[in-house]
Amino acid sequence: MRRYVAAIDQGTTSSRCIVFDRRGRVVGVAQREHEQIFPRPGWVEHDPETIWRNTELVLGEVLEQNGLGPGDIAAVGITNQRETTVVWERATGKPIHNAIVWQDTRTDRLVAELGGDAGPTRYQDRTGLPLSTYFAGPKLRWMLDNVPGAQERAEAGELCFGTIDSWVLWNLTGLHVTDVTNASRTMLMDLKTLQWDSEICADFRVPEAMLPEIRSSSEVYGEISSGPLRGVPVAGILGDQQAATFGQACLVPGEAKNTYGTGNFMLLNTGTTPVWSKHGLLTTVCYRLGDQPAVYALEGSIAVTGSLVQWFRDNLGIIDSAEEIERLAAGVEDNGGAYIVPAFSGLFAPRWRPDARGVIAGLTRFVNKAHLARAVLESTAFQTYEVVEAMRADAESQKLDLELTTLKVDGGMTANDLLMQFQSDILEVPVVRPVVTETTALGAAYAAGLAVGYWSGTDDIRANWAADTTWQPSMSAEDREKHIAAWNKAVERTYDWVD
Ligand code: G3P
Repeated sequence: MRRYVAAIDQGTTSSRCIVFDRRGRVVGVAQREHEQIFPRPGWVEHDPETIWRNTELVLGEVLEQNGLGPGDIAAVGITNQRETTVVWERATGKPIHNAIVWQDTRTDRLVAELGGDAGPTRYQDRTGLPLSTYFAGPKLRWMLDNVPGAQERAEAGELCFGTIDSWVLWNLTGLHVTDVTNASRTMLMDLKTLQWDSEICADFRVPEAMLPEIRSSSEVYGEISSGPLRGVPVAGILGDQQAATFGQACLVPGEAKNTYGTGNFMLLNTGTTPVWSKHGLLTTVCYRLGDQPAVYALEGSIAVTGSLVQWFRDNLGIIDSAEEIERLAAGVEDNGGAYIVPAFSGLFAPRWRPDARGVIAGLTRFVNKAHLARAVLESTAFQTYEVVEAMRADAESQKLDLELTTLKVDGGMTANDLLMQFQSDILEVPVVRPVVTETTALGAAYAAGLAVGYWSGTDDIRANWAADTTWQPSMSAEDREKHIAAWNKAVERTYDWVD
């Protein structure tokens, strides 16, 4: 019996490969960062060829560092930054343009046009998503409009579209496939049939010939065709936030996780029937195991959280490393009255304001860099609070039994004690971090391992999950309310900045 499962985690800032054992423990990790390309304000691109090269390299590196070969790996899972859009030539595998990244806002006019008289909710009852620059469909439309000859070539079947999972799978196996979770982020899939929606594809003028086949999140798609893992099955694909939900063992309705990465993404398992949000959340596929019914989630996506710390480091130069922010912030009692709303890509959930741009509000001569550091961290907690409130409102208005009693967290920023305590205070619920915090890669490994019988069922996932640290709420109601009122005022200052 092979001893391990490997997961490729192709994220916004880096590509990683992690090997896990049967208990869900990390055996080895390799990681490489890639360049963030900002051709104009609001535009964000990645080079797909660099992404693939880095993926190949980390796969080789993790095996070499740990003395492993194909005989040790039972299956490979893929998890990925979602919505990021790649188009490549079917004959050569060459991309026709840089990947357009999920944070990119170049399609703002296009999405307004696509909404027409119906507005941003035009496709929400079929796709679970409001029209927004965030999703892959409008990005694909942009490429077909702006790369010379692309529309004709796509219609002739010469081009392939894919989110990053498809791009990585294509390069590993030669297959043109995606999974239901990634497909649910394109705006082109019907959430109930789990197939491409021909009407929406026609409205977007996207030829269906260029779309990948939609499969479940856990099944053998094919075998790796070359390199050190030649012959090993690829057997799991999940968008990174869905993978983290699976890896955090949020397997029954009402269980939720919040991942603190470049952005923050909170997913609440709602079971096998999709719940339509009336309060600014997305409805998305959480996972589908083989031919079992799909499980859905409500999602609150926040565009800028960890990337605000990067901005504080790289653009303002106030700190030298991301870790330094906690020490700086801990040097003062509170935020000194300053609030930062990082609406760099407009505001995502639950407000969906593409016209918003970032503000620092409440500045006085008293405010220093430590107060700002605190405001940077607190902005993540406030944005999460808004998402949790929207989930509570959806559950209440639709009489769903989905009360959030604790919040499971993961991602880089959960190492920050000050932020986690503040998060628990603002939400008034305990915040729990598990022992294994690599939940994204772990979720993809579970999906792959389940498909090949390495794990026997989801009970193994539950048994492997264990709490490490819990933060209990301790702020007074009065302080909490003051904070929330000031935050709301600051958010309103971001509106109507761009037409
Ligand atoms: O929807 C975007 C999300 O999948 C990106 O995640 O962790 O790469 O920032 P991350």
